[in-house]
Amino acid sequence: MIEVKGLKKSFKDIEALKGIDLHVAKGEVLGLLGENGAGKTTTLRILATMLKPDGGTVILDGKNVNESPQEIRKNIGILFGGESGIYDRLTARENIAYYGELNDMSPSEIKDRIDYLVKVLNMEEYIDRRAGKFSKGMKQKVAIARSIIHNPDIMLFDEPTSGLDVGGARIIQQFIETCKEEGKTVIFSSHTMSEVEKLCDRVAIINKGKIVETGYLQELKEKYDKGMEDLFLELVGEQNEL
Ligand SMILES: Nc1ncnc2c1ncn2[C@@H]1O[C@H](COP(=O)(O)OP(=O)(O)OP(=O)(O)O)[C@@H](O)[C@H]1O
Ligand SMILES: [Mg+2]
Repeated sequence: MIEVKGLKKSFKDIEALKGIDLHVAKGEVLGLLGENGAGKTTTLRILATMLKPDGGTVILDGKNVNESPQEIRKNIGILFGGESGIYDRLTARENIAYYGELNDMSPSEIKDRIDYLVKVLNMEEYIDRRAGKFSKGMKQKVAIARSIIHNPDIMLFDEPTSGLDVGGARIIQQFIETCKEEGKTVIFSSHTMSEVEKLCDRVAIINKGKIVETGYLQELKEKYDKGMEDLFLELVGEQNEL
């Protein structure tokens, strides 16, 4: 479903990605772990066709990011942490519908899909209110609905729970679980090991622009005879000493 080979990206003299290889099967949830500045966001932005790679190949659902970015965009949902990018002056419904329009959905398709998402995400009370005064959790739900308005097969999450309280983080985690149940292919980055252990099938550990380890959680724990946090620190620590 997702094939990344030899992916490279530099920003002037900073080599952010030095040849990344990643493979994610359909329906799989892959956790992307790495310290600050390791290259997680850069990788996800390239997969999301928001940034052009310098070298290597990136194929999503058989399509190359360099050749068919628009087609790829129709099949991916993006939820990046930090600022949600919700327009304060629009209602929740308008915010979500706008993304439907960007994805070439018809007004009736948008209406039906929003009706469904409002029920699933429990947004009845505020769907027609302006988003400006929404709590973080309410905005997060709008961002979730917006990211899946077009029912994509692939979901990319970049630290989606960062800065959220326990309840807000749980909404996102449950959403990732729902994506998995629906057979979507998911990559998400996180600094929270408990979250990674809860949600991921497999992890890839990235350090200074390179993948230093990848595997199923249980396999890695057995291989290193350590918990996730310790093995993560060992892997990124060793590399830093070189
Ligand atoms: N637009 C940019 N311009 C210049 N340098 C950039 C840009 N985006 C990323 N970088 C650099 O590329 C490297 C990788 O950054 P990236 O944001 O991918 O890391 P990250 O793994 O997402 O880190 P974090 O956990 O802090 O979010 C860093 O050295 C960063 O400074
Ligand atoms: Mg980042």
